[in-house]
Amino acid sequence: MSMIVRRLSRAATAGLVAAAALTAAAHSAEAADTLGSAAAGQGRYFGTAVAASHLGESDYAATLDREFSSVTPENEMKWDATEPSRGSFTFTSADRIVDHAQSQGMDVRGHTLVWHSQLPSWVSPLGAQDLRTAMNAHINGLMGHYKGEIHSWDVVNEAFQDGGSGTRRSSPFQDKLGDGFIEEAFRTARAADPAAKLCYNDYNTDGVNAKSNAVYDMVKDFKSRGVPIDCVGFQSHFNSNSPVPSDYRHNLQRFADLGVDVQITELDIEGSGSAQAADYTKVVEACLAVSRCTGMTVWGVTDKYSWRSGGTPLLFDGDYNEKPAYGAVLSALGGSGGPGDPGDPGDPGDGASCTATYTRTADWSSGYNGQVTITAGAEPISSWTATVTLPAQQSVSSLWNGTPTWSGNVMTVRPSWNGTLAAGASTSFGFTAAKNGSDAAPTVGTCTAS
Ligand code: G3I
Repeated sequence: MSMIVRRLSRAATAGLVAAAALTAAAHSAEAADTLGSAAAGQGRYFGTAVAASHLGESDYAATLDREFSSVTPENEMKWDATEPSRGSFTFTSADRIVDHAQSQGMDVRGHTLVWHSQLPSWVSPLGAQDLRTAMNAHINGLMGHYKGEIHSWDVVNEAFQDGGSGTRRSSPFQDKLGDGFIEEAFRTARAADPAAKLCYNDYNTDGVNAKSNAVYDMVKDFKSRGVPIDCVGFQSHFNSNSPVPSDYRHNLQRFADLGVDVQITELDIEGSGSAQAADYTKVVEACLAVSRCTGMTVWGVTDKYSWRSGGTPLLFDGDYNEKPAYGAVLSALGGSGGPGDPGDPGDPGDGASCTATYTRTADWSSGYNGQVTITAGAEPISSWTATVTLPAQQSVSSLWNGTPTWSGNVMTVRPSWNGTLAAGASTSFGFTAAKNGSDAAPTVGTCTAS
């Protein structure tokens, strides 16, 4: 019952969703200075995996909302998350992501309907007929709930074995239903939501090899027999043991030539610096060279929440700073405003801030010494400006570790040698003032930084 209520309310919001998408499109036409807008300029989406549990973190949400035009729930649409006990569907976490995405005009990829992993324990013991019924009910339950709201579904995930032979992976579905379970899942999915693109998704299929050949043969067979399949997802988890293959573009193209779209679905590349950036460039260029490569998704927003966090494989570091790989991707997408470009919101300096606090460090009958401590905010700064307003009678006789200019009794102080501060670091300047009959404290105004 709750599922039906939810479905109705989701449909009722469709008009608002369309309006939000139009707003996003209008924005992207103005300035290709984010991943999503630059990709839109190439007719592609640029997405990320998202975890519902991080949406409340302001920097996470801000980076997500600013940069990406598509989201894939990282775990929240998987079988164990959505149907933990048979016939009892739970969409709370997945809905949170979908609602967030829609409020930002982002598309949603559905991941994933039939997969051997993250299966609840009730699935594996089922007999063949029961498993078939449960598989189709699961597809119908998920796709029905999100009908019309998901641009592409990973209908079947990772059904082929690694290694040389290109055989099917052992799973409850494969072992009990045989090779036909993939076809059955796709046919059920088409009926459940005819508007969604239906994808087969796998890893280690990025170059031409026995595994990708086996997937290729399956897609070719599906197309020749009219089994509904629209796209193939290439996960693209890369590292030094599994580098970006030299025939990546060729492999994407040969699948596209079968008459399906191709999508890069879970991209991450372990590494850092210019080498990582160069590998990201290769991936983006390969997608852009294949007209049916409709979009790319990186497998997370920030290195700190990556499933391979130790390998720092993503575009933003743990503090949400843009990495060289970010600039490389943006540039490969034809965008501007990457690291170092004027106005880039992720550059050190653009979010520069500081605070100024005053203390009296010495005091005598006719005068005092004051100290103003300048502390950089969350980003490094290269300069700061602080204002100090003195009581009218007072006058400053000397000032150190800063350069003052005067306007009446307002002293504006800039650095002498101490403008550059790391994020959170402090410096100070001091001065000697004559009281001239007033012992009142000066007032320190707003600190500004660049
Ligand atoms: O949410 C629980 C938490 O309550 C518990 O305390 C904690 C203890 O281990 O586990 C948490 O769940 C983890 C979940 O991620 C959420 O963080 C699971 O243990 C962990 O196994 C799960 O890993 C996910 C993995 O799929 C599972 O197979 C990764 O986040 C996710 O990135 C990864 O994604 C897969 C794609 O779906 C398919 N392709 C490969 C890709 C990378 O492995």
